[in-house]
Amino acid sequence: MNVISHSADSFRNLKDTHIEAHPSMNIIFGENGQGKTNIIESIWLFTGCYSFRTHKNNELVCDTEEEARAKLRFFASEREQTAEMKIGKTKDIVLNGVACESPRAMMGRFRAVVFSPSTLSVVKGSPGERRRLIDVALSLIKPNYAVIMSRYLRTLNQRNALIKKIYEKQYDLNILDTWDDALATLGASIIDYRLGYIESLRAKSAEIYSGISSSKESFDIRYSFGKTTEINGDKDIREILLNELHSTRESDLKKLYTSAGPHSDDLNITVNGRDARIYASQGQKRSGALALKLGEASVMGETTGEEPVVLLDDVMSELDEGRQKFILNYLDSWQVFITCCDPSTLMRSENGKVFEVIGGTVSER
Ligand SMILES: Nc1ncnc2c1ncn2[C@@H]1O[C@H](COP(=O)(O)OP(=O)(O)OP(=O)(O)O)[C@@H](O)[C@H]1O
Ligand SMILES: [Mg+2]
Repeated sequence: MNVISHSADSFRNLKDTHIEAHPSMNIIFGENGQGKTNIIESIWLFTGCYSFRTHKNNELVCDTEEEARAKLRFFASEREQTAEMKIGKTKDIVLNGVACESPRAMMGRFRAVVFSPSTLSVVKGSPGERRRLIDVALSLIKPNYAVIMSRYLRTLNQRNALIKKIYEKQYDLNILDTWDDALATLGASIIDYRLGYIESLRAKSAEIYSGISSSKESFDIRYSFGKTTEINGDKDIREILLNELHSTRESDLKKLYTSAGPHSDDLNITVNGRDARIYASQGQKRSGALALKLGEASVMGETTGEEPVVLLDDVMSELDEGRQKFILNYLDSWQVFITCCDPSTLMRSENGKVFEVIGGTVSER
């Protein structure tokens, strides 16, 4: 999969930009605040996922305009395709001349992996950020996962609303039976997808991290069952979840929310066997987040049979020369869009194009 060209207008500060992309390396450089991340962000939105910076459409539209536009020509599923996006009050995408029902319809049609400064929160942030890492990747690899996830969250919200009504004595506890049944079925499916994905990601990210650190450090990830009993081997996940939902009803009633289920799970990340959240240095956290993202790209390519586009925003800072060198070499298998302030470190790569961004306009150098 690769981007052939990309244009954007009135997308944040971007003014009628156009990039004819190189099939391998695309370096986007410029001073701070010129629009580099805006380009990465507008390419990313064609995956059908939310922006990595905001969920609000109005923030994506230039302050002085009513509507932002972007267009992506890309090669996927063995053919050239075109997607056009308009962002106003809503985000509307037309793929190959046909209007998508929602941006989500793009999931699996154009696949990318993005690393941005906010990706660092995967290692140091809340469990929700780590779940998001898994959920976004799985939604792009298996679009059906996103459908199941959204049904699960809807059912969870309904159960939480019912818990409040039971607390107010409007209903009896038994009314939860139907919702627990549905939650256990959907939740088991989510956990099953996640465990399969983590197994592949674990091996890849450990291998990449070892390369980044010149085999000096080790990296590991494990799925962690937040409020649910550890699920091992052949045990029926649905049954375990159902039992948990039943046994935690009384305590849920005190807390007024549902505690058990994949919405409370997490990912344990370790560097040299120690919890990365607490012990890893800045550079190690960044290396870990990168290993997870490049691992994601690798798993995505293997699972779907088509390599995703890799978007790297401000990735090299805080990394020593050895780590930077390994990453640049490792990127060889993908089409990459990488931003930086000073292109001289990346210029070593001869196989690519360089674009300069100044005040929201882009020119090839
Ligand atoms: N909705 C908007 N309308 C107009 N301008 C905006 C909007 N949102 C952001 N901007 C502007 O876009 C500019 C570029 O932002 P961007 O994040 O792409 O910079 P950058 O080149 O990546 O900088 P850095 O190197 O600091 O990361 C900023 O000056 C910002 O004020
Ligand atoms: Mg930026």
